[in-house]
Amino acid sequence: MKMPSARGPVSAAVIDALARSPYDFSCDPDGVGDEDLHLALFVLYELHYRGWDGVDDRWEWHPGLLALRAGLEARFEAQLIELVGPPAPAEDVPRALVALTSDSSGPSLSGYLRGRAAREQFQEFATHRSIYHLREADPHTFAIPRLGGAAKAALIEIQIDEYGGGVAHRMHQEMFKATMTALGLDTEYGAYVDVVPAATLANNNLMSLFGLHRRWRGALLGHLAAYEMTSTGPNRAYGNGLRRLGGDADATRFYDEHVEADAVHEQIAAYDMCGSFCKAEPESAGDVLFGARCVLAMDDRWAAELLERWAAGESSLRG
Ligand SMILES: [Fe+2]
Ligand SMILES: [Fe+2]
Repeated sequence: MKMPSARGPVSAAVIDALARSPYDFSCDPDGVGDEDLHLALFVLYELHYRGWDGVDDRWEWHPGLLALRAGLEARFEAQLIELVGPPAPAEDVPRALVALTSDSSGPSLSGYLRGRAAREQFQEFATHRSIYHLREADPHTFAIPRLGGAAKAALIEIQIDEYGGGVAHRMHQEMFKATMTALGLDTEYGAYVDVVPAATLANNNLMSLFGLHRRWRGALLGHLAAYEMTSTGPNRAYGNGLRRLGGDADATRFYDEHVEADAVHEQIAAYDMCGSFCKAEPESAGDVLFGARCVLAMDDRWAAELLERWAAGESSLRG
């Protein structure tokens, strides 16, 4: 992945350091702004995925970078708690997940994309989402070695579909490339990091935060469950919106596939995965709901930002 441009002093310090061989790096994140924070976190997290072009792999576990990351994460976690409140003890998590994900009072981005969006707006939507879809399922895979028993088996059942049953062109992260191609977008991994705003990076950082810390394993499962449980309706709308704009079967396959697959995944995620996990680790039940609440609130905020920009006749991407 090509290294993006800095958005402030902290991301500049990280990007500058990564261009060199590992050395005694340190950086104080005091006063970091939102764009700067989320780009810096995104750049640091990517070291644990596929990495950046030309960056020394030894940076991944560099103590100076990890110290900075911890400082940025503390700020991000404080933002999350401000947004949805802290994790609280919970019972009957599958039922609570159903209640949380049935609330449709948020902004309807999918309704707009289905019925009214212009082609350029759909293109922007896919640009934002490409940051995740081109590595779809990868953040949640970090949970597999941290679980045992029924919850682990359920997660793997979901991930097997996400990874196309081991067939490359059926992996969801590969399937999305056909949608991007139909929209005239660049399918290279991470091609659009530079143009997406902090809200889009934050949605991705949320998964990495939960994925890379074992202490957040419950939140990671809640995150995945919320994704799966709010997928069928919106993906049907995205597919129909893209068809309305002339998209053929190749273009819409990614969305159509999710209508089918996630009708099954949502049951597995809520009951088999989160339900079994909370039975085995009842003290983590609150974390599961916290993860779900975070993703739902952040997705709503992101959707509102897009709709606002479009309503003002502007682009939702960075200049
Ligand atoms: Fe998927
Ligand atoms: Fe799914």
